[in-house]
Amino acid sequence: MATTLFDERLLPTDIMVRDGYRVRSLRSDDYDYLNLWRKTEIPKIKAVPEFQKRFEAMKKTNSYFVVVVEQISSQKIVSALTLLLEFKFIHEAGQRGRIENFVLADSHCAFSLCIGSTLHSTLIELAKTLGAYKLSCQCDTGSMRYFTAHQYVNIHHFLDQRFETKAPAKWSNPQDAALLFNENLIPTGGIPEGIRARALRSPDDMDQYLKLLEQLTSVGYLSKNDFEQRFATMKTAESYFIVILEDIASSKIIGAASLVTETKYNLNCELRGRVEDVVVDESQRGKKLGVLLNKILVEMAKKLGVFKLSLECKTELIPFYEKFGYKESLKFMAQRFDNVVPPVVTTLD
Ligand SMILES: CC(C)(COP(=O)(O)OP(=O)(O)OC[C@H]1O[C@@H](n2cnc3c(N)ncnc32)[C@H](O)[C@@H]1OP(=O)(O)O)[C@@H](O)C(=O)NCCC(=O)NCCS
Repeated sequence: MATTLFDERLLPTDIMVRDGYRVRSLRSDDYDYLNLWRKTEIPKIKAVPEFQKRFEAMKKTNSYFVVVVEQISSQKIVSALTLLLEFKFIHEAGQRGRIENFVLADSHCAFSLCIGSTLHSTLIELAKTLGAYKLSCQCDTGSMRYFTAHQYVNIHHFLDQRFETKAPAKWSNPQDAALLFNENLIPTGGIPEGIRARALRSPDDMDQYLKLLEQLTSVGYLSKNDFEQRFATMKTAESYFIVILEDIASSKIIGAASLVTETKYNLNCELRGRVEDVVVDESQRGKKLGVLLNKILVEMAKKLGVFKLSLECKTELIPFYEKFGYKESLKFMAQRFDNVVPPVVTTLD
């Protein structure tokens, strides 16, 4: 029996869909989803196990919501768009949504705008249902009007850099339940004496880490249980790398930054990386700790085999990030949702 990637009851029911088509979740037997990307048929024998492996991996994380448009008469997927959820500690352990991976069958190019709009409207509603506090996407300058019509605004800048991918380092989640990720991934060179770069620890780091994040944005109230739940969700996903800078003498957290990876299931499982929530304690700014955190994340991204690393930032921080190889490329579009139910819950079933 084929299974759905997510509970289809989460999908809105009031979005206009072209006659003869329906919107639904990706299913475990939707092998032609990969063909949409490759634009050519791939031998089934290879495609089936490969697809199923990817499908199960996506499902496990509770973060990939691949919504497809199916042509009812041919039962073929003609288009798809993904809502990716990113779990956070900020905004009461909120989650943000990202729109990614729009794909359309050549045969349906003439309906591009209408299918794109259906998918987009569906994902916006889905993101709200899932309690996302923000939804974002990237686009070229020419498409900004389209996204503006969907209530997005262009506030921050989108910067990225690409790497020549090498074989990723072998790593697995640490045995130590308190550690978010395997610290072997953190580079050892270039760290000043008296400072330790390490992985986030739960629950020991809770108070200090949340206090530091308050210097970046609102954090709100999190109980110890909320913190541990969110930590566990991140650890299970194996795609959250929150690096802590600690002053060894005082055991104080003086900086932190997150690298979050996304597996591009459509692109040979390549990894995309995002830099998030970079913050240095006010008392320690101007001592190149921001530089250190960024260098660490770039090195870790390369080690993990990330092909593209990106971030969003305010205008005044562009020169800061350009030092690490980022360039402004696409436009960053985002919309915020007020009144979402505080999504302290991590399970989505
Ligand atoms: C941005 C931040 C992480 C920088 O950390 P930091 O340790 O003070 O920065 P560094 O000492 O490593 O600074 C390195 C360089 O970046 C520049 N820089 C640092 N903060 C800057 C800012 N807010 N605007 C512009 N340039 C900045 C410094 O002038 C310095 O330039 P130089 O090498 O030419 O002397 C820190 O200011 C911070 O935590 N800010 C609040 C949270 C935030 O805005 N995070 C970024 C979210 S995208």
